[in-house]
Amino acid sequence: MYAYLTIFGLLSAWSQANIIRTGTGQSQDVPLPGDLLIGAAVSAFQTEGWWNKGGKSESMVDHVLHTGRLGKLGFKNTNDSDTAADSYHRYKEDIAIAKQLKFQVYRFSISWSRVLPEGDISRPNMEGVQYYHDLIDEILKQGLIPFATVYHFDHPQVLEDQFRGWQSREMIQKFRDYARFLFNEFSSKVQLWATINEPNVMCAYFGTLLITAGLVQAEDYNTYKCMHHITLAHAEAYRAFKENKLPGRVGVNTWIVTAKPNTTSIEDSFAAEVFNQLQAGSMLHPIVFGDYPELVKKYTGHLRPEFTPEEKQMLKGATDFISLNIYAGGNVAYKDSDRSSETLPFSGPAVVVENMTHGVDFISFRFADELGRRSENYPLFSVAPDAMHSALLWTWQQYNLPIMVSENGIPLQKGMDEELRLAYYSAYLRALVSAVNEFKVNVMGYIVWALIDTVEWSAGFDLKFGVAAVDYETGSLNRSLKSSSDFWLQVAEKRVVPFAEVPRSTSSPSSYQLLTTKTVLLTIFSICYTCCANFIN
Ligand SMILES: *[C@@H]1O[C@H](CO)[C@@H](O)[C@H](O)[C@H]1NC(C)=O
Ligand SMILES: *[C@@H]1O[C@H](CO)[C@@H](O)[C@H](O)[C@H]1NC(C)=O
Ligand SMILES: *[C@@H]1O[C@H](CO)[C@@H](O)[C@H](O)[C@H]1NC(C)=O
Ligand SMILES: *[C@@H]1O[C@H](CO)[C@@H](O)[C@H](O)[C@H]1NC(C)=O
Repeated sequence: MYAYLTIFGLLSAWSQANIIRTGTGQSQDVPLPGDLLIGAAVSAFQTEGWWNKGGKSESMVDHVLHTGRLGKLGFKNTNDSDTAADSYHRYKEDIAIAKQLKFQVYRFSISWSRVLPEGDISRPNMEGVQYYHDLIDEILKQGLIPFATVYHFDHPQVLEDQFRGWQSREMIQKFRDYARFLFNEFSSKVQLWATINEPNVMCAYFGTLLITAGLVQAEDYNTYKCMHHITLAHAEAYRAFKENKLPGRVGVNTWIVTAKPNTTSIEDSFAAEVFNQLQAGSMLHPIVFGDYPELVKKYTGHLRPEFTPEEKQMLKGATDFISLNIYAGGNVAYKDSDRSSETLPFSGPAVVVENMTHGVDFISFRFADELGRRSENYPLFSVAPDAMHSALLWTWQQYNLPIMVSENGIPLQKGMDEELRLAYYSAYLRALVSAVNEFKVNVMGYIVWALIDTVEWSAGFDLKFGVAAVDYETGSLNRSLKSSSDFWLQVAEKRVVPFAEVPRSTSSPSSYQLLTTKTVLLTIFSICYTCCANFIN
């Protein structure tokens, strides 16, 4: 899942938790499309723990967090991930929860540094390989469909040391070899694969972490170069899968924020389309059509490497489906020279949005918030089910390939009203169903982030996306179902999206006050930080 900086935007969204608009005016349960798969997700780094045991080496994310130099991005205890939820040992409990809630798909990722600690295939760690065999066997034993992500941000640090990771072309072959290794090892058991999780987040947000921690100089880091290499790496891995004639389908998990034009003016429509092509098209267009979209080339071509004719051939058609991680949407206005853009307060999602539009100065973007209160400080809190509808329609219209929604979910803090979570699931799923019914979008499945509470980057254990809770507070790491988890049982048993809405003022005064104090402090901190950052720049 995505990364955070501050947590105060939450309150603005949540305290205003009035009725969430459905977009369709329906107020009853909506039948699910017949073959839509429903699942839940975890990722290796965010749940496994055991970061340097069982033969695993340090990964790039272990390393950058261990520097302890990310405080100004909001990281507190950056060693939370060292134990995480200890799913390395407790994966059977996680899978049992998925089984109990009758999910159909279990999405997980494989840790590159656990399988190939030295980054290449010459010395695999058989203990790590066996761990994933055991995990997959358990998923199958419980009757779930395994959906494996080859790589979810956590490549071995040794590849950074050797050639600076994704800044180098060498990473492409390393990744292809790693992916091929996994495909050969596990494809008799796993037939649903994603190569890479959120390339844009990897290149923009994690690049920013590397720079902030002083591991890379800003002038030596190029987000678009990273995107270029990662796109080729995905395609090489896809080709390796197909060359070996393995059974199954391969895609890539893309973090997508679709923007709508702020007004009906032709300028705003144009700017919104440029934005969408930069955010998602720059990744998806090459692997479907073989090259960057024309708008991306026109406005940012001078900042990007070009694909060679052979690469274009190799890229074209290099995906079986498109896998989308959908949380937030936004509005874009055309900004003329005498209108200055509002700077988005620094946050993970804002970093990605900004870095993916680097070099284009006519875009003015704001995260949407259908609750009517701005919360772009923490955009993923924006309850904006239209983001689901827009992302599906845009992607379908552009590429006409089956779509898997590989992530969607809401982070709440401990003690907060689980009704908001219910309303969120309900509204986003209804938006999905409406895209399928009204526009015949081919959606393969919906996977909720996350099955259990995980390490959420700068927010540590504070933000809880889980369908099930993990007791990080006492350290027992015991799992328990949340009251909202019943939603998924109803989905499975009745094959409907249960209707749920949040009535006004559901907040209890005590938790409200607690959050308000925190909010004020964090707001002050953030304003100071923004000022300093602006000053330094
Ligand atoms: C975090 O982990 C690293 C690596 O094990 C260690 O050097 C550092 O002291 C730890 N920091 C804290 C605050 O525990
Ligand atoms: C992304 O943009 C932010 C804000 O403008 C900047 O601080 C950061 O260095 C950029 N990151 C990269 C990887 O270029
Ligand atoms: C959209 O238009 C409104 C009204 O003119 C304006 O306040 C807002 O800043 C615009 N949004 C963006 C993203 O520029
Ligand atoms: C965690 O679960 C174990 C096993 O069920 C139980 O013995 C223990 O008391 C639990 N710990 C906490 C803090 O709930």
